[in-house]
Amino acid sequence: MNKLLGQRLVAPSILSADFSRLGDEIATVMDAGARLIHVDVMDGRFVPNISIGLPIVEAVAPIVHGGGGALDVHLMIVEPERYIARFAGAGADVVTVHVEACRHLHRTLAQIREAGAAAGVALNPATPGSALDEAGAWCDLVLVMSVNPGFSGQTFIPESMAKVRAVRALLPDEAAVEVDGGIGPANASDLVAAGANLLVAGSSVFGDGDAAARFRALSAATRG
Ligand code: DX5
Ligand code: ZN
Repeated sequence: MNKLLGQRLVAPSILSADFSRLGDEIATVMDAGARLIHVDVMDGRFVPNISIGLPIVEAVAPIVHGGGGALDVHLMIVEPERYIARFAGAGADVVTVHVEACRHLHRTLAQIREAGAAAGVALNPATPGSALDEAGAWCDLVLVMSVNPGFSGQTFIPESMAKVRAVRALLPDEAAVEVDGGIGPANASDLVAAGANLLVAGSSVFGDGDAAARFRALSAATRG
């Protein structure tokens, strides 16, 4: 498993970045200390939106890896098993698939590790943590969605806090717990206290204002 995944980190989500200057946006947050860069891949089928695909992952991988960082690719797509090898080949260090999109989750997670990436499983807000009673042992990371996937800038679903606690309790210690959606200074430290170690942040980092300063402030909040 990528050693960054065991740390307590804020992972800026480039979905909220200015795509016309994506390389600069990533460099800005990495200069401010970001090491895990979150990439949201959407297909217009698993979620109602279409976003980033393989060419963007390929284009940003050298910037992220060159700065000592890792690429955290969140696949919000149907039949993710068809694309795992290509995303890993494009530079993804973590590939996360949705449990709701996988017919054979054990096989898909094994496929991710065989492709050389860390294996993540994401849970939609309505999917109980108990969906991972078995699969918790087969993955490196669990991503608790704290909004319905598809868009940045949504409001944090408050029940997600208890779900983070439950997921942390059922996973082996070495598995990372990541939370994604509606995260900002108001809930970051509570999420860490509940057991999350990776916090994805889109609009609270790349929204209006200084992304470096916003990243630093959020990182400070995770340190309590
Ligand atoms: C939503 C994505 C998130 C998104 C988060 O489907 O998975 O990663 O970028 O955006 P914010 O932090 O604005 O909720
Ligand atoms: Zn995401």
